[in-house]
Amino acid sequence: MIEVSKGIYWVGAIDWEIRDFHGYATPKGTTYNAYLIVDEKVALVDTVKEPFRDELLSRVGEIVDPAKIDYVIVNHLERDHFGSFAQVMDVAKNAKVYASGRGKKGIEEVYGERWDVTAVKTGDTLGLGKRTLRFVETPMLHWPDSMFTYVEPDRVLISSDAFGQHVAGSQRFDREADPHALMEDAKTYYANILMPFGTLIQGLLAKVPSLNLAPEIIAPDHGLIWTKPGTIIDAYGRWSKFEARDKVVIAYDTMWESTGKMAHLIARGAIDGGVEVKLFHLRKSPYSEAVTEIQDAKAFIIGSPTLNNGLFPTVGGFLYYLKGLKPKHKIATAFGSYGWMGGAVKEIVARLKEMELELAEPALDLRYPVTKQQEQECIEFGRKIAKQVKEAKQ
Ligand code: FEO
Repeated sequence: MIEVSKGIYWVGAIDWEIRDFHGYATPKGTTYNAYLIVDEKVALVDTVKEPFRDELLSRVGEIVDPAKIDYVIVNHLERDHFGSFAQVMDVAKNAKVYASGRGKKGIEEVYGERWDVTAVKTGDTLGLGKRTLRFVETPMLHWPDSMFTYVEPDRVLISSDAFGQHVAGSQRFDREADPHALMEDAKTYYANILMPFGTLIQGLLAKVPSLNLAPEIIAPDHGLIWTKPGTIIDAYGRWSKFEARDKVVIAYDTMWESTGKMAHLIARGAIDGGVEVKLFHLRKSPYSEAVTEIQDAKAFIIGSPTLNNGLFPTVGGFLYYLKGLKPKHKIATAFGSYGWMGGAVKEIVARLKEMELELAEPALDLRYPVTKQQEQECIEFGRKIAKQVKEAKQ
């Protein structure tokens, strides 16, 4: 039995084996966190992914009879937290359901008006006895129906997907983890899930005092619970502003090793130029690793050989993945090589323009294997990007 705060319990499930979370590599697995609040009334906040329903119900059963749950709170409808909702409701037969307005609509679209669902708005409350739940709508963080549930007077913020990490393990709290590894996991999660919503996060953080939220504990839907929430709130402040370092990320694929050679020479030039460099071969590293590094890099460079007049498939896939995450305030450019006819570099530049990024140095597009003279060109290309990075304000 895991107590988050007196009378508030973690009753989630551990998914040790998941390695791909809708395209985001999860080498450490994940957890689906759900929380049980036991007062004069009993409330369950969120459920778990459907195959884990028995784990949820058995954890609840260690604390109270699941049939005695009075309220089920649905913070959002994505299936990793909502997947076993119906099975929970089959057991908690008298439970009333609380969700945002869009959440209520979604529940009724899926299941009809099978249950008593109350729509709540920011500031609405639900008394449990000594405790009160206060709801805060957080639309598009990261679903339209998303909301937070704040438990008073315990000051526990159940934050849905925000502030999570994809990591499975025996630890449940930040204090049990290696702090550096925890922040890396949180950054990877932020970059691959929340990056598109930076402006909304800035808005929410600015509104925290007027919302009267002063959490002592932040309990997210994935990963470890924050008992020192200042650390993760500060990090979200930096990440949502795209604060970046003097770092260049090079992400590429190669067909006959020319583009690969260019990638390594450009990296050498950028290192000579005095900036940090991270390099990813896109057939050997998951997209999510490169994206995590792009999150706090001032620049990134994409390389592709030309295949059938266009992009190499892994590079095309990566650009598509990246575009959806809407990176901002980055310097970007392209490089590549071709045999009989080019096309890939032009295509990368077009995609970068669509992302409204600042384009650096003219892209580097070479024909045939890299000559000695071209080796120097590649190194110089890397140096110039490094210079631009060091001169950039952010
Ligand atoms: Fe963890 Fe939006 O689901």
